Amino acid sequence: MKTKHSQNLPVLYTQSEIETAVNRLAAEITQDYQGRKPILVSVLKGSVIFLADLARRLEFPVELEFVQLSSYGSGTESSGKIRMAQVLKTPLKDRDVLIVEDIVDSGQSMAFLLEQLRKKKPSSIKLCCLLDKPSRRKVAVTVDYRGFTVPDKFIVGYGMDYAEQYRNLPEICVIEQL
Ligand code: IMP
Ligand code: MG
Repeated sequence: MKTKHSQNLPVLYTQSEIETAVNRLAAEITQDYQGRKPILVSVLKGSVIFLADLARRLEFPVELEFVQLSSYGSGTESSGKIRMAQVLKTPLKDRDVLIVEDIVDSGQSMAFLLEQLRKKKPSSIKLCCLLDKPSRRKVAVTVDYRGFTVPDKFIVGYGMDYAEQYRNLPEICVIEQL
């Protein structure tokens, strides 16, 4: 863990480390999607800052769509009972879909979203997440593009929150005491 602090929180990844990771992901995705025009499905609210940085580095046309998921749990853990709080109305049939997510933790949210989106018969569906916390996985999820693998800590900043706080931190930080 680095010593630099933002709002007194330990920094896990600096702005420049995040930028390097986003550039790498954008290069991989740009290579894989040559000649296609995918729909990026961003999961509100945590992934919007990542989406904004990633989308601007993709060197092909994209469409942007948003879904919001809510789990009935509270605090730092999802209950596993997920529902769509904001539903996607755009047809996905025969489209290439790339889900853009902030963090995959238990995997329950992404397993649910993948199942819902597959029902719309897209021609392909892939998952890009900035952070992957595999130590907490309860449901297997294939992550196609991954920024960082993170330890089992609660993470905030760069879009991610704790009780709606810290989303605007430019770094990715850790909350050590919840
Ligand atoms: P999952 O369903 O347990 O994989 O969790 C999914 C969602 O919970 C993520 O998309 C985040 O929005 C949120 N989440 C999980 N871990 C963290 C964390 O460490 N910090 C902030 N949000 C988190
Ligand atoms: Mg999320």
